[in-house]
Amino acid sequence: MGEAEKLRQWIKESDNIVFFGGAGVSTESGIPDFRSVDGLYHQQYDYPPETIISHSFYKRNPEEFFRFYKDRMIFREASPNAAHRVLAQLEKQGKLRAVITQNIDGLHQAAGSKEVMELHGSVHRNYCTRCGKFYGLDEILAMQGVPRCECGGIIKPDVVLYEEGLDQGILQKAVSYIRRADMLIIGGTSLVVYPAAGLVNYYSGNKLVIINKDVTPVDQQADLVVSGKIGEIFAQIADGD
Ligand code: APR
Repeated sequence: MGEAEKLRQWIKESDNIVFFGGAGVSTESGIPDFRSVDGLYHQQYDYPPETIISHSFYKRNPEEFFRFYKDRMIFREASPNAAHRVLAQLEKQGKLRAVITQNIDGLHQAAGSKEVMELHGSVHRNYCTRCGKFYGLDEILAMQGVPRCECGGIIKPDVVLYEEGLDQGILQKAVSYIRRADMLIIGGTSLVVYPAAGLVNYYSGNKLVIINKDVTPVDQQADLVVSGKIGEIFAQIADGD
């Protein structure tokens, strides 16, 4: 039985599936990932991107931060691809319990997924650092330069920057879903950024699946590795139903 066929079979047998994904889930929606050769971290800038999207750079150089953030981290026109759609469908069928994502693009929710843990936040949530007022993505995009609240405070995206911690409540919720999962599907992530990459250690079942274009550090311990484009792979599985 081929890998994709085995994946389809295991999904059929499971009713407590958890999905953990990264930027590779959204590349087929036109959003570049970070570490592939055409990814964000391989494009030329005055500073390395990881330096720009850090808390200290945001504080020291807000103009440059927001220029980079708006130019390179926001893809207003992107829409869900087959991977997002099939995951939402599996949740509707009561087979998938939760999506845990490192992505900030909101495409899982746009595809209809309800239980989504955004470990690194979302571009769709922005808060004034002085009065806490909420602003949506379009409001931020309509502002020139450093977005400012009517009270004068800088409006900060609800995105976890380097040097910032993750929301512990969200992380704990993700861990409890993974502990209970009968099947954990990890897709489109290089699994090199912690603490997100450490989540796999909480899974104790025997259906650990990796769906990725490139190899990952977890491939050795996976029960099934499906190499390829995750949107295409999920589209193929859904067709078979
Ligand atoms: N299908 C399957 N895998 C893909 C696809 C695709 N269509 N496109 C890319 N990939 C794979 C790449 O081979 C790579 O292994 O997805 C992985 C993406 O890895 P990264 O670019 O490192 O993205 P991610 O793992 O999400 O990064 C984690 O790093 O900079 C931080 O906060 C940022 O959330 C991000 C975190």
